[in-house]
Amino acid sequence: MIIVIDGPAGSGKSSTARAIADKLDIEYLDSGALYRTATLIYLEANRDKEAFFILLNQKKISFYYEDQKFHVAIDGESVTDKIRTTEVTKAVSEVAALPRVRSFVNNLMRDVVLEGVYVAEGRDLGTAVFPDAELKFFMSADLEERAKRRLKERKEKNPGLSLKEVKQNIAERDLKDSKRQADPLKKAADAIELDTTNLTFEQQVDKICSMISEELK
Ligand code: CDP
Repeated sequence: MIIVIDGPAGSGKSSTARAIADKLDIEYLDSGALYRTATLIYLEANRDKEAFFILLNQKKISFYYEDQKFHVAIDGESVTDKIRTTEVTKAVSEVAALPRVRSFVNNLMRDVVLEGVYVAEGRDLGTAVFPDAELKFFMSADLEERAKRRLKERKEKNPGLSLKEVKQNIAERDLKDSKRQADPLKKAADAIELDTTNLTFEQQVDKICSMISEELK
């Protein structure tokens, strides 16, 4: 069984999905982390697409969720923190727009969800990757609010970061993610929309959890 949460950057998908996974004791899948991992390999290939695709096919990417964190490794070496750098964040939407990268990531995800109950989050899960998902949510919030949340999250590791910079990065990514040809960020027709601008974290988690529990019955 799979429950998907799509939405733009900073809408709260990732923290909400992790809280849901913990509360309901189900698995969590972070598709953005897999696009970030592909981006790390792209940067390692010095942005040379040919070299990048060769490397992408050679590397073994593994992942699991534990202790509130989605862990990713390339050839057994953890890249969990490396995929969150500003350099990766700036390049990720460009790499995620490549159709070959999308089918690579989609295959990784479809293989893993064959067994168990998963809550997965991303941009195109309800539309392109798991169109038959049992429950679909689309989370949104004002750009200002999303930027504030993201800054709060990143400030500790990156004290020099400004609200303006975060806002700009989010707005640019949203635009690239929504306008790209290959599986753009889009609400699925049958997704339940949740605007979280004025909801507390607990409220949004409880709202989704109660709908999932109903579905699991
Ligand atoms: O958490 P944050 O909003 O910073 O982004 P993320 O979920 O880590 O995703 C990073 C990027 O991966 C997004 O901006 C998209 O370009 C891409 N992505 C995608 O294209 N499709 C998905 N299903 C998930 C992420």
